[in-house]
Amino acid sequence: MSSLLVRGGRSLSGEVEISGAKNAVLPILAGTVLSAGENTIHSVPKLRDVEVMKEVLRTLGAEVKESEDALTISSNLVDSCEIPEYLMKKMRATVFLMGPLLGRFNKVSISQPGGCSIGPRPIDLHLKGLRALGVEFTQKEDCLEGKTDKLVGADIHLDFPSVGATENIMMAAVKAEGKSVIRNAAKEPEIIDLQNFLNGMGAQVRGAGTDIIKIKGVEKLNSIDYTVIPDRIETGTFMVAAAITNGEILLNNVIPEHVDSVIAKLLETGVEVEYNQDQIKVIGTPEIESIDIKTLPYPGFPTDMQPQFMALLSIAQGNSVITESIFENRFKHADELRRMGADIRVESRSAIIQGIDKLSAATVEASDLRAGAALVLAGLVAEGETEVKNIYHIDRGYENLEEKITNLGGQITRLAD
Ligand code: EPZ
Repeated sequence: MSSLLVRGGRSLSGEVEISGAKNAVLPILAGTVLSAGENTIHSVPKLRDVEVMKEVLRTLGAEVKESEDALTISSNLVDSCEIPEYLMKKMRATVFLMGPLLGRFNKVSISQPGGCSIGPRPIDLHLKGLRALGVEFTQKEDCLEGKTDKLVGADIHLDFPSVGATENIMMAAVKAEGKSVIRNAAKEPEIIDLQNFLNGMGAQVRGAGTDIIKIKGVEKLNSIDYTVIPDRIETGTFMVAAAITNGEILLNNVIPEHVDSVIAKLLETGVEVEYNQDQIKVIGTPEIESIDIKTLPYPGFPTDMQPQFMALLSIAQGNSVITESIFENRFKHADELRRMGADIRVESRSAIIQGIDKLSAATVEASDLRAGAALVLAGLVAEGETEVKNIYHIDRGYENLEEKITNLGGQITRLAD
């Protein structure tokens, strides 16, 4: 397993270009299966998870051609609806293929997606919605098979505004006969991006971004040329990088309203944030104020920014409390930050952080994508050289992280295994 060596002590300053959104491009790439044509998706970030999604599409029979930052998928060649277990295990987001494969073939076969380090990650809400559209699921020895004679529109209420369940149900309902409604739907910007992508193919979806999404099924979906939105979590991560190193970073290719809650929380810590319609400037401050955070579904504070803020608040003045209300087990990075000297106590869903003056370098392990990013941020401000191990997690969701940090004056190098 390769690792990153991060030397602390430098304030980051300069400009960074934010890449396309991982959590928008994955469902959209899955959604290309719905059209029997050639689709080109632009602003595709070079990530491990995108590599896995390309492998999945090729396994299903699609041809996937790459150019600079675009992928062209010939979905007309898709002739299988089975996702092999080894690919399911590589990436949980393969679960996003359920809706499109049911929408294209009226059947799908996947192995149960495993949990991961942040929680069991059930798919009961995905299955509830798809069953409401007429899909029957049977559990075979090592896979879950879903099939239907015909998808029929339904009125579906989600017990929890699950992002993945909302997306899967949308991608099946666009081909269902008649009308569907998804109530208590997730409102993340990636849902709006998916709606725009599907409507660009000729679907009839309304209401994404609100908690009620209405869909009128159509017979056929055409090909599309589509550009995904910038990554709001990469945006937030570099905003924290400016704050934690007391630097000054101008972020380009961003959508400020997608990080409203992150801006609000950074302002509470005393950091300066200025923005226009596609740029954000963050100016650090020598003393970070302690704050309290509770993660919530969008537009609340994003769970995917919780680890990065824990690193920042580790060196704040005073006591902060972070409450994680989305995932059952998303505090593993607290153990690793403690190895760097942080004073953090975890009690059930809350982490109590007593700010200290300085973190110290240590050898730490990334347990998931955002925890890895948080440890890199901590390494940028710790005294000495921190080694962050298991950085394949980071490679899943951050494009050219070392290069971007180096261009901002940070000292970070990759240690191959
Ligand atoms: C998406 O995961 C994101 N991943 C996650 O980002 C993000 O943390 C999460 O949404 C919440 O914003 C992608 O978009 C690829 P959920 P998803 O379904 O869809 C429970 C990252 O770092 N739940 O909204 O899996 C679930 O256990 C990743 O980029 C059920 O109980 O999230 C969790 O507690 C991490 N039953 C909560 O809902 C279900 O059927 C939120 O899950 C589905 C979910």
